[in-house]
Amino acid sequence: MSKSETPTSQDSVSPDAELRARAAQAVADRPEAVDADPWRQTFHIQPPVGLLNDPNGLVQHEGVYHVCYQWNPFGPVHASKFWAHVTSTDLVHWSEPSVALAPSDPLDKDGCYSGSGIVADGVVQFFYTGNVRGPAKERLPYQNLATLGADGEVTKYSGNPLIRPLEGYSGHIRDPKVWSAEGSYWMLLGAQTLDELGTGLLVRSANLLEWEMVGEVGGGTAAPLGYMWECPDVVRLDGGEILMISPQFDEGPDAGTERHSDVTLYNPGMLDLATGRFTGSGFRRVDAGPDFYAPQSFTDDSGRVIMVGWMGKPDHDEQPALVVKHPSADNGWVHCLTVPRTLRLEGDHLIQWPVEELEELRGEPMTLSGAVVEAGASLDVAGLPGTAFDLELTAACEPGGALTLRLREGDSSRPLLVTIDHWSGTVTLDRTLLGTGEGGVHTGSFDPGDRATARILVDNSSVEVFIDGGRLALSARIYPMADDTQIVVDATGAPMTLDLACHPMRAGLA
Ligand code: FRU
Repeated sequence: MSKSETPTSQDSVSPDAELRARAAQAVADRPEAVDADPWRQTFHIQPPVGLLNDPNGLVQHEGVYHVCYQWNPFGPVHASKFWAHVTSTDLVHWSEPSVALAPSDPLDKDGCYSGSGIVADGVVQFFYTGNVRGPAKERLPYQNLATLGADGEVTKYSGNPLIRPLEGYSGHIRDPKVWSAEGSYWMLLGAQTLDELGTGLLVRSANLLEWEMVGEVGGGTAAPLGYMWECPDVVRLDGGEILMISPQFDEGPDAGTERHSDVTLYNPGMLDLATGRFTGSGFRRVDAGPDFYAPQSFTDDSGRVIMVGWMGKPDHDEQPALVVKHPSADNGWVHCLTVPRTLRLEGDHLIQWPVEELEELRGEPMTLSGAVVEAGASLDVAGLPGTAFDLELTAACEPGGALTLRLREGDSSRPLLVTIDHWSGTVTLDRTLLGTGEGGVHTGSFDPGDRATARILVDNSSVEVFIDGGRLALSARIYPMADDTQIVVDATGAPMTLDLACHPMRAGLA
């Protein structure tokens, strides 16, 4: 090698390029078990390998929807968080993922944690938390900026951090949600007080680069709610606003109620931009299922407010191992996002509904009209289309009756049970018989009535139930037997009349 060919430090691979190359290699070298896995999803965003958690950086720009997500490319465990990035022009067909952010910088070396995106000055800007652990493993959170270039490359801002660790709060400050209103930019951060109480912090900027504290939105000593608020979001909907948070709690007497970890809550009310205070009528659950956490919303160019959630939840030491709860981890990948859902507010009630574009994936439906099922009898919905479908039904049970759907039923008799009792206004998701993955029974309530209307989206390893036009939603991961594809409807207690349309779903992922 002549002298002129000697590599200089400029030729050497940057830490960022090296991490990106390692992530690409992890995808290329992924275990065969990933692609062979019958639990791979077909119309839900999932990691190519490794672990996915929160949705990040949701934005539409020049007709393209951008969805990023927390991603560990190196295995189905929570470590080394990258931002993966997928795009779509219709919210249904998604590109192959690329790396948006890699934890390559001293200001994010222990993870590019969650954050959001906005379009400002014609450019997509991403805000994220650089998770840094200090010498004593203490948390040092930095709020950072990165910009999406026209070439699809994301570049971290050279002036980072925008916000350093804050006096008066612990090291738990993260998940910036940024929006513009009233001529300013606003950022909402999840935080923890020095007394270890969860709160949200409103910060303000005129130029996206310099930020000043406005105040705490809630929680803290005034209204204690958990020890840390993750992924806060103020969602402006026609008719009002909601504060949406994923609070963390110590396990205690409230376990299993609304005041426990791993559920996302919303509070309808109003944010006072002058003080940062959010005044609302009280917190309720966004989704009554077991697998829904850290959602994020954005407004698209048509004015719709769209939310995507992580169809999973955090792990706790005392719980069974991740691979027991989510056996796909044995095949090299774990978790997925929910379908995009439009949000509306009716009074104080949040309404969620799968975006209408999903109907593009529907195949020829199988329909039943006015089918009567006697009390104690079952209807085998024969000829049904496999493992991914979009099912709509209206059921009227006579008083005292309820219906149970056995989904992914088959020779092994290990279905998911969805029981809808419209007289009492309860729906139950029972994963006990599945035998694989996390079990348990989860119940949600809705206004009782003389009939039930439900829409149920089933993918290879998930179910999302929407009752009463989206007044109640329940999301869960399921790990059924690949060959079990039947749907059976049981009428319990009284005869039932049933209208049903079941559409097979085509794949939407690249
Ligand atoms: C929520 C969360 C966020 C954090 C990210 C790390 O699930 O804990 O608070 O930014 O995940 O992956």
